[in-house]
Amino acid sequence: MITFYDYYHNEVKLSFTDHPFSEHPKHVWVISRYDGKWLLTEHKDRGIEFPGGKVEEGETPEQAAVREVMEETGGEVEALSYIGQYHVDGKGGCIIKNIYFATISNLTKQETYFETKGPVCLDTLPKGLERNSQFSFMMKDEVLPHSLDYIKKTQLLD
Ligand code: GTP
Repeated sequence: MITFYDYYHNEVKLSFTDHPFSEHPKHVWVISRYDGKWLLTEHKDRGIEFPGGKVEEGETPEQAAVREVMEETGGEVEALSYIGQYHVDGKGGCIIKNIYFATISNLTKQETYFETKGPVCLDTLPKGLERNSQFSFMMKDEVLPHSLDYIKKTQLLD
């Protein structure tokens, strides 16, 4: 278990074990790859981030992950792997989020991208994200680098 503080100084606990905080998390985050690039979305308020969001009533977290990637990027998930979970102790309560790694087979243009401006494909993730105002706060704490290390270590990424 790794503990640190996020961009807003909320305490975050992160673990790459099997659902350490909840079997039924209400949030998902999907680190996505399409055509040799990272596939992100540009949230209208928060900026660029990997797709994700809330698990809806009657949905599994995996179904939410697939739906959120399609809604926010137009990407079709080909393979989805659970990699870990984190717990944020926020001012308005705590949230628990599953982290997935997804490979995307097709990207199709959507009529709407919901609360986002749609897909953003990047060859590499820039350094110094915590000081980059184009990127969302979700990209600015230790969840992302630890998750990328885990993806590399487990050879999920060729
Ligand atoms: P709605 O989507 O409009 O309901 O709004 P919301 O952003 O208030 O709700 P949500 O439940 O998604 O998040 C509540 C709070 O939890 C946010 O304001 C953040 O402080 C925190 N939070 C949500 N997701 C993350 C995350 O991925 N990382 C970190 N560090 N904090 C998060």
